[in-house]
Amino acid sequence: MTVIREGDSVLLYLEPGKTWLLRVEAGKSFHLHRGIIQFDDIIGQKYGSFVATSLGKQVAALPPLPRDLALKMGRQTNIIYPKDAGLILLLTGIGPGSIVVEAGTGSGALTSILGYHVQPKGHVYSYELREDFSETAQKNIARVGLEKAVTVKQQDILEGIDEQEVDAVVLDMATPWSTVPLAYEALRGGAVFVSFSPTIEQVQRTVEALYESHFTEIQTRELIEREIHARIGKTRPATRMIGHTGYLTSARKVYPPAAKRK
Ligand SMILES: C[S@@+](CC[C@H](N)C(=O)[O-])C[C@H]1O[C@@H](n2cnc3c(N)ncnc32)[C@H](O)[C@@H]1O
Repeated sequence: MTVIREGDSVLLYLEPGKTWLLRVEAGKSFHLHRGIIQFDDIIGQKYGSFVATSLGKQVAALPPLPRDLALKMGRQTNIIYPKDAGLILLLTGIGPGSIVVEAGTGSGALTSILGYHVQPKGHVYSYELREDFSETAQKNIARVGLEKAVTVKQQDILEGIDEQEVDAVVLDMATPWSTVPLAYEALRGGAVFVSFSPTIEQVQRTVEALYESHFTEIQTRELIEREIHARIGKTRPATRMIGHTGYLTSARKVYPPAAKRK
């Protein structure tokens, strides 16, 4: 993916905080406050090239990263931020070829990050209770070209997980503890369950449910991120920061020990 082709996703970067995620279409254009960009000027260029707007402003055409896919999509729900998504990937070991079950899809931000990383042969099965959310999420996922890696199922996960021997179960839903027994049945031995929850009360109930099932390595973490404004001669922490997103509880499936023979 070095040359931009028609239908590809591109992140246009003007300056910090001024970026746009677009799918390039021949013959069409994009209007920004610094002029108009013709998509025909982008098609055929290498990612990383500059293109000029009609007002002569140079804009970089970059390949979107998973964090861009997540942060730029239309939101109907709270979304998982890149800092937490990054840790979810490390905790679960999700990568190319992984089969992942997720709930709820919400806006599809985390779904897109998971979908990006399981490509080309893995798959994310994402359960979403609400029809309106699942429709928006599917549009968001298609917009960033990940429809082959993701299936959004408009289904209550508490009615059952259809997939078996999966590599990870990832939850961001109000009652994750109710899903723990179902997640246990769906996971392959040794695979990881992760749940993102904004409140300690949710964490407590989830951890209790994990102890009641056969899970080991039960851990909860909170990640706190502080951006540093790196400027020549005046580098300092950003004035504003995201104080709290949520807690990540993870655990690994184990089989019950075989009963000792007499
Ligand atoms: C906070 S949102 C998830 C946001 C998502 N992680 C993202 O990054 O865009 C929580 C979602 O869980 C869904 N949900 C809650 N209970 C569910 C269930 N039992 N089965 C499927 N989805 C459920 C809700 O409808 C809601 O859309």
